[in-house]
Amino acid sequence: MTIPDRYAVFGDPINHSKSPRIHQLFAKQTQQLLSYHAQQVSAEQFTHCVNRFFEEGGKGINCTVPLKELAWHYAQQKTARAQLAKAVNTLALQADGSILGDNTDGCGLITDLTSNYSITLVGQKILVLGAGGASRGIIAPLLEQMPEQLVIANRTIEKAINLASEFASIAAIQGCGFDQLSGKTFDLIINATSASLNNQLPLLSKNLMTKETICYDLSYSNQATAFVRWGQENNARKSLDGLGMLVEQAADAFYLWRGIRPETTGIINQLNLERHQPFSLD
Ligand code: ATR
Repeated sequence: MTIPDRYAVFGDPINHSKSPRIHQLFAKQTQQLLSYHAQQVSAEQFTHCVNRFFEEGGKGINCTVPLKELAWHYAQQKTARAQLAKAVNTLALQADGSILGDNTDGCGLITDLTSNYSITLVGQKILVLGAGGASRGIIAPLLEQMPEQLVIANRTIEKAINLASEFASIAAIQGCGFDQLSGKTFDLIINATSASLNNQLPLLSKNLMTKETICYDLSYSNQATAFVRWGQENNARKSLDGLGMLVEQAADAFYLWRGIRPETTGIINQLNLERHQPFSLD
C-alpha cells in the first residue's frame, strides 16, 4: 500500500484554520495522494516541532501566525520572494534533504485582488495596517503592481518606519503611526494586523475612506471579521476578507510541493458555501 505524503500547517492559534480542508480539496481535484493536518505550535516549540516533522518523513509545512519569521530563519534555502520578505509561509523538503522556504502570501493576495475581484492596483493609493510577518509578505508584491502610494501604518510606529525602509529601494513607500494618517484617504485599505484574530480593530478614522474605498482583511472567519464589519459600517465599496487569498497562497504552496497548481475558483466557491453550513467530508 502506498503511504500518503505528509504535510501540515503549524501556528498558534490554529483551530480556526481552513488549510486542511483546502488541501484536502486540492488533493482530490488533482488526484494527489497526501495527508495534511493542522498542529498547534507556539514560537517556543517551533524548531523542535519542525525538526521532528521532517525527521518523521514529512514533506512540507505551512507556517502561520506567529511563526513566519522563525520559518524564514529555519529555511536553509529561500526563494527570491521569501528572501525579500524575510518571512516564510511554506517550507518544502528538497531532493537533497535540505529545506526550502518560500512566501506565497503576496502572490496569493495579488491573485485574489486582481483576478478574483478584478481590482486594479496600478496607480492606486494603498494603506497597509500592521508591520508584522503578515505585512512583510505582501509589501514587495504590492509595490510591483505600481500603486501611486503605499503607506504602512502600525500601532508601534518604529516598526512601520523600519519595514518601509527595507522596501524603499523598490519604490516609494512610507511608514507611520495610525494618528499620522489624518487628512489622507485611500483606494484600498488592507488589514495585516493580527487584531482580527482577537476580534479587535486597529484605531482607525472613517475619514480614511471615500465611497470608492475597498477594505480587505488578510484574516478570514465564518462571520465577518471586525475589520470587514468596520468597512461595511463605513460604506466601503467592497469589504472583503482573506478567504480567497488563503486559497490562492495555498495553491501556490501546493504547486511548490506537488508541481501542479489546483484550479481555485470552484474551491473558493465551495468554501464560501461551507461558511454557512457544516463541512461535508466527501
Ligand atoms: P504576524 O507575524 O502575524 O504579522 P506579529 O508579528 O505579531 O504577527 O504582528 C502583528 C501585527 O498586528 C503588528 O503590526 C501589531 O502591532 P504592533 O507592532 O504595534 O504590536 C498588530 N496588532 C496586533 N493587535 C493589534 C491591535 N489590537 N491593534 C492594532 N494593531 C495590532
